[in-house]
Order: sequence, then structure tokens, then C-alpha cells
Amino acid sequence: MSQAKEVRKLFLDFFAKRNHKIVPSSSLIPIDDPSVLLTTAGMQQFKKYFTGEKDALKDFGTQRTCSVQKCFRTTDIEEIGDERHLTFFEMLGNFSFGPVGKDDPSDFNDKSGYFKNSAIYWAYEFLVKELGLKIDYVTIFKGEDKIPYDQTSYQIWKDIGFDDKNIKEFGREDNFWGPTGDEGPCGPTTEIYIDNIEIWNLVFNEYYQDKNKKLIKLKNPGVDTGMGLERLMKVVEKKETIFETSLFLPLKEIIFDQRIDLEIRKYRIIADHLRGAVFLISDGLYPSNLERGYILRRILRRLVLYLKLSRLNLDIIGKLVKVVIENYKDFYPEINNYDKIINVIDKEVRIFEKTLMRSLAKFDKIIKINDAYEEIGEKLFLLFSSYGLPLEIAKEIFKERNWNWDNKIEEVFNKKYREHQKLSKGNG
Ligand code: ALA
Repeated sequence: MSQAKEVRKLFLDFFAKRNHKIVPSSSLIPIDDPSVLLTTAGMQQFKKYFTGEKDALKDFGTQRTCSVQKCFRTTDIEEIGDERHLTFFEMLGNFSFGPVGKDDPSDFNDKSGYFKNSAIYWAYEFLVKELGLKIDYVTIFKGEDKIPYDQTSYQIWKDIGFDDKNIKEFGREDNFWGPTGDEGPCGPTTEIYIDNIEIWNLVFNEYYQDKNKKLIKLKNPGVDTGMGLERLMKVVEKKETIFETSLFLPLKEIIFDQRIDLEIRKYRIIADHLRGAVFLISDGLYPSNLERGYILRRILRRLVLYLKLSRLNLDIIGKLVKVVIENYKDFYPEINNYDKIINVIDKEVRIFEKTLMRSLAKFDKIIKINDAYEEIGEKLFLLFSSYGLPLEIAKEIFKERNWNWDNKIEEVFNKKYREHQKLSKGNG
């Protein structure tokens, strides 16, 4: 863990020296941004500085900020368990707002806005000179949909010493970022790859995308960069995956201590969901059936499912929560609240454990591998309506057993669900 601590500090010190104001992470629950359920990127708390609605110079004494931001992404929840996906992660980022000044990376007195020159050079300097890493290649925006080719970034990477084969060019799909939610700042990117993974994304926010997906030039271009700490630690510590880094090792030790032959995928799911839940709860979220509360409920349910499938005792949760708090409390003092966190988790987990055990027993009685998909859909609806087994958990059970999952199952389930809702409304 101490290594991650050092890297966070190195990053913040590096940019503080270059006149960036260090801004603490905002909450995972966005305060003033209805476009997203949870904080997914470091730039979110700064959106209004990019658009000019707020003045960075007035609020921070400089047009530059940097942060280590708590982020939570749910798009990939079913991918968790592979080598690289996470729900919760930390994002290191530096930002520039307002009119661009000299954009000279060697000028340590300048506090004005900067753009591609400084952003790219500093990213290079931090990775190569501060951390001693070797960049494999970089990518730039090749131009698409009337947004021009990023000649400037190309030239800067050339000047730094990259040759053409290490400057790859891609279109909007890969090298254009944002906005978060329905509208917001966005722009072309240049991305840095080490060990074939994207380590750092530098976004040049030149546009505002409105609700109709129209791009409008921002009055002043800005810089928004994001580098996932877990991925960075993987390359700094030279580990096979992020789950082997010092950020996860204390969790890994506890889990494997109890079940030495545990399948690695299950360990990753348990570690990811446990850590994510601790951070969501410490930012004030409670499990519920609505929106962001449901995200927390969903990961806690998956946590229970995978602990059960791993034949691990639920009591392990307390130990894991303690370790997460221990590892992160110096940097995120808000998570130092064991009693509250364990109470929220415990309540949810105990209820779902009962649901799961009852419905699994029934599941094994009524569902057979050779059943027709339509029939399975009906039976799963029965398990849901009588025992509370969520469809997404049933899907996981199928996956675990290597049973085929077909869209027809979901179609029948959803049809039954709608009928059921109509009926209960009619009766109400
Ligand atoms: N906002 C950019 C990202 O999240 C840096 O990748």
C-alpha cells in the first residue's frame, strides 16, 4: 500500500510544483450534476470551470487543478472478474481552464491556462522521468465527423522523440472523450500505453456537446486528464494484473487464507465489490431499489452470491472491511467509519443471504439444464415473485454452471413481470 501512497503523493507534488491547486476528491455521489448517478471521472467536479460558468482563478488562485478522484463505473459490472475491469477506482488527473497562456511546460511561475504542449510534455515527464516507466506507444485523434486531425499532438510527440510507428491514429470511437451523461465538455484525446494498457487519457476539451449531440466550440479550450491508479500501480509494481498490486494484496491474503483453492475470478469479484461498497457507503449511500441505491444493492448481492459460491463464511466481510479502511483512511478520512459501514452491509447481506439460500434450493428442484428457454423464463419469474431471486443473479448462476443463457429467457421473464405489475395495479 505504501507504494500507492507514494505514487499519489508524487503525482500531486509534481503538479503542485507546476502551480496546480490540489483539490480533494469529490464525493462518489455527485452534488450538482443530474446527468450521472455516480462520479465517473475526475473532471466532473470541474465541469463549470470548463464552460466558464465558474472562474478557476477566483476559486483556486490559479487556472490549474489536480486531484485524485474516487470514481465508480457500472457499465462493466458483468465484466468484473476479468483481469482489468473495476467498479470503484481512483483517477489521477490534472486540469486546465480558462484562456490559454504561454503553454510552456518549463515555466514554473505561470499560473495561466495551458493546452497540448504542457499537458503532453508533463505526462511524458511524470511517467518516464519521475516513475521511470517506458511508454510503448501513444495514440492521437485522426480526424472524423468534421473534427480536424490533431496535428499539434502529433508534432509534440514527434518532438519528444516518438517515431511514426509509435504514434497510432484513431477516430471518434477511441480518441474522443465525453461528455459524461447527456451533455457537457468533450474533445479529442491523446492516450498513453504501457504494457499494452491505456495508462493515461489526455482530453483536450474544445467542445461542448449539447443534448442533441451537437458540438459547440467552447470559448476557451481546457485540459482534462485521467490516469487510473490501479492500472498505474500494475505497471509500477510490475504485476500480472491490477488484482495483484499492493492495493488489493491485503484483501487477497485474507480471502485465500480461508480458501486456498479459490478460483481467481471469484476473488476478483469479491475484492472489487467489497471495496466499492465500502466507498459508496462511506459517501452516504444506502442500498435501495432506486437508481444509485440499486447499484449498491446490486454489488452487495453479487458479493453474497460469490461468497456463497466460494463457500466462504459471510463473517469474512468484517475482516475485509477493516483492511480496506486501514489501507485508505489516511487519504480518504471519510471511510474511517467501521461501525456504520459494517451495519449497512450486514443488514443487506443477511437479508439477501436468506433469499438466496431459499431460492437456490428451489432453483435446483425446478430448473433443469434441458428445459426450454421459455419454460426457464417462467420458472425464473416464479423464483423472483415468490422467493425474491433477482433475474441478474439467476443469470450469474447460469454463468457459473456454464449453462446457456438465451434472450428468450429474459423476454418471457419480462413479459410475465409486466403482466404481474398490471395485475397488481388493477387490484390496488
Ligand atoms: N475524463 C477523462 C477520462 O475519464 C480523462 O478518461
